[in-house]
Formats: sequence, structure tokens, C-alpha cells
Amino acid sequence: MSKPSAIPAVRGFRDILPEECSHWQTLYGFGEVRLPILERSDLFARAVGETTDIVEKEMFSFRDRDKEETPLTLRPEATASVVRAYLESGLVHRERQARLFYTGPMFRRERPQRGRYRQFYQIGAEVLGRDDALADAELLVWLARYFDRVAARGVHIELNSLGDESCRPAYRERLRKFGLAHLEALCGDCHRRLERNPLRLLDCKVPGCREVIERAPVMRDSLCAACTAHFDEVRALLDQEHVPYALNLRLVRGLDYYDRTAFEILAEGEGLGAQNAIGGGGRYDGLVAMLGGPDVPGVGFALGLDRLAMAAPRAADPERGPVALILPLEPAAVAPALQLATRLRDEGLSVGVEPAGRSLKALLGVANRRRARLAVILGPEELAAGRATVRDLVSSVDRRHAFALETPGPELARWIRAEVGA
Ligand code: HAM
Repeated sequence: MSKPSAIPAVRGFRDILPEECSHWQTLYGFGEVRLPILERSDLFARAVGETTDIVEKEMFSFRDRDKEETPLTLRPEATASVVRAYLESGLVHRERQARLFYTGPMFRRERPQRGRYRQFYQIGAEVLGRDDALADAELLVWLARYFDRVAARGVHIELNSLGDESCRPAYRERLRKFGLAHLEALCGDCHRRLERNPLRLLDCKVPGCREVIERAPVMRDSLCAACTAHFDEVRALLDQEHVPYALNLRLVRGLDYYDRTAFEILAEGEGLGAQNAIGGGGRYDGLVAMLGGPDVPGVGFALGLDRLAMAAPRAADPERGPVALILPLEPAAVAPALQLATRLRDEGLSVGVEPAGRSLKALLGVANRRRARLAVILGPEELAAGRATVRDLVSSVDRRHAFALETPGPELARWIRAEVGA
């Protein structure tokens, strides 16, 4: 087979690589990449696969006005773009190993319903240049921790191994034979899939087909020794870190670039209903070469932010407000309030001040709405005693602290930082 050619970005649509991004994000060592929303259609046809629903039915594709030969597509996903950018920018030669993340809108021409939109948002991460099970496990542990932290409801991870080019062809053939033996029970789409890409059979949603598929052979029984060892190691590492998951031996994912580890994350959420996959991902060791690059493995995931917000309202929380909001209860407290705010701001704390003249209850309501961590109350009692009362607004316990108004700024800031753990 001749070596595939490289697919460039569309003219005038550029990638912003980590070194160019104004702010570096360093969580788990991932650098942000900002990718164009428009790509050449053949990028997705080749990466995601000609016979997938995404490429066959769901892409928003068009020809540009200047009749440029290549049709263009609003990206339905971003892994293909990440790999294109990794190759086009030369990162592949400079770094080889790269950890990139992205966020932004994706477009799929699906039948819209709650949790399924034609423009939706993803955040995703890709690790290029690593073929070890540790890279897969690290991503899954990270995800599991994250879902705990944002209190996502009913999350469970489903895991499978799809084998690789040394063992999958034989499985594909077994599946094709099985399908041919049950032809009369399968839908028209599945008949076509049998010819072109039998693995897609496992992904059919038609109830009659599902019944047949229940009895189909599974990839696991055909995995080669190397794929089995990789899968066993991923699972052992997940067990070690107490990450719960379920094996789903019929999981194939809706994109063709995967091999070995594939996973999907399901959740429960108000209105999520059948659209309960909040994320998915896996390994794609053949994709870089398929897009014209050298033989570089990769693994990654993407979360659907529209659905994540339904399953984990806390994940959609806006940024925290100021560390402290100063609440003068009466006009006499205005001058001390400004003085206090200035001293704390000089120490680098984010502090807000509200105007005087409202009740404590109303002001505490404001502080909560603005998501302040602490309320600093300056009322008549506080002014008389020369002490401000500090109330912790985040812990459900109503802890109160008091400090003298003349405490020096640095000491006060240290005290507040220690209180909020900042
Ligand atoms: P995907 O499973 O096609 O994977 O999409 C990831 C997530 O995007 C889904 O689990 C879902 O939450 C969300 N999503 C997909 N379609 C829609 C839609 N129409 N409306 C709302 N949300 C949607 C990928 O896109 C791969 N690129 C993931 C990946 C990264 N694999 C390796 N690296």
C-alpha cells in the first residue's frame, strides 16, 4: 500500500499551538491547542471513517464560493484536527510526545433532541507518542477523579479492547460470516455494513439487529497476545486506583480510528434519557500514519459539555467570585470598608465591596450570588468594637471569625488565605 499523503489545514484557518497560546494550562501537563472549526472534508472521511454514521450522514459539508476543489466540513470532532495540527506544525518531529487539550463547538447533523444538538461542545485531551497502558490508565483515573469532584450523577465507565491490525482482520471476518448467516434478521444498513465494515454492525440501533448482535462473536476472544497484555495492564492499573468500570465486549464506538482500548462514560441526569454518553475515547495507534505521518500511537478522550452539565450541575459552575466581599451595613462603615478592601487588594486578594444601606440578610444574599468565599461584615456592633466579623459562605457550617480592624494588611491577608486554604 502506498504511503498516505498529508492533509493540510484549509487556507486561512490556522492552529494555535501551545507555545502561541497566551496562557498555558498546566493541568496534568496538557497544553491547549486552538483548532479551526473548518477542515477539509477528506480529513474526517479518512480519520473517522467513510462508513461511519458521522461521515455518511452527519457532516455539515459544503464547497466554498471560490470553487476550491476540496469540499469543507464543520468539524464533527477534534481528534482528527489535533493529529493534523500535530503533523502540520512539525510538533511530531520537535516533540514526538505531546499532551494537548482543546475545547470548543463541534457539529453533527443528527436528529436534534434533548442532549443531542447539531452544535454541541466538547472538551478533549489527546496524548500522542505513547503506546503504554499507563497512558490509557492515567486518562481514565483522571476522568474518574474529575467526575467525583464535580459530583456527576450515576457515572459509569464502559471499557473494551478493539484489538489492532494484527488481530482485528480475523475478527472482522468472523463477524462478517456471522452476519451473513443471519442476513434475513438484519436491516438494510447492516447489509451494507457487512460488505464494507462489519464492525459497525455492533453499533446498529435497530431493535431487530440488536437481538442478533447479542449473539455475535466478541473481539475479546480474538485478541492477540500483545493486545491482551495491554488490556490486562490497563485493567490492573484501574483496579489498583479503585476506578470502577464495566466491560462492554460489544462497545465499538462511532468512529473508526480506534484500536485496543476503547471506552465510553455514561451518566444519569435530568433529561439526559437515551443521550446518556457524556464522554468517550480510546487508543488510536494507526491514526497518525493514516493521516500521512510517521508511526506514532495516540490515546485520548472527549467529554460532551452539554450533557456533562445535565449530569453534574457543579461542573457548569461559573468561576468562583471574590475571596471576600466586604459588607458595610451603615454609612459610617463605608470608609473603613474601602480602607479594608484597599489593604487586602494590595496583598493580592480579590475583594469586592458592596454599597451601604441594606440589611445584613440582603447583603449576605448578594455575597452568595456573587459566589464570594467569605463575607466581611461591618455593622454598628463591629464598628463599636473595632472588629469585623468574617463569615465563611462556602462551608455549610456558619463559622464566624472576628478580627480587629487595625490588623495590618499583610497579616490579615495571610489570615484570610489560611482560612480559605488559598
Ligand atoms: P464521541 O463519542 O463521538 O467521541 O463524542 C464525545 C462526546 O461528545 C459524547 O460522549 C457526547 O457526550 C458528546 N456528543 C457527541 N455528539 C453529540 C451531540 N450531537 N450533542 C451533544 N453532545 C454530543 C469523539 O468525538 C472523539 N473525538 C473522542 C476522542 C478523543 N477519542 C479519542 N480522543
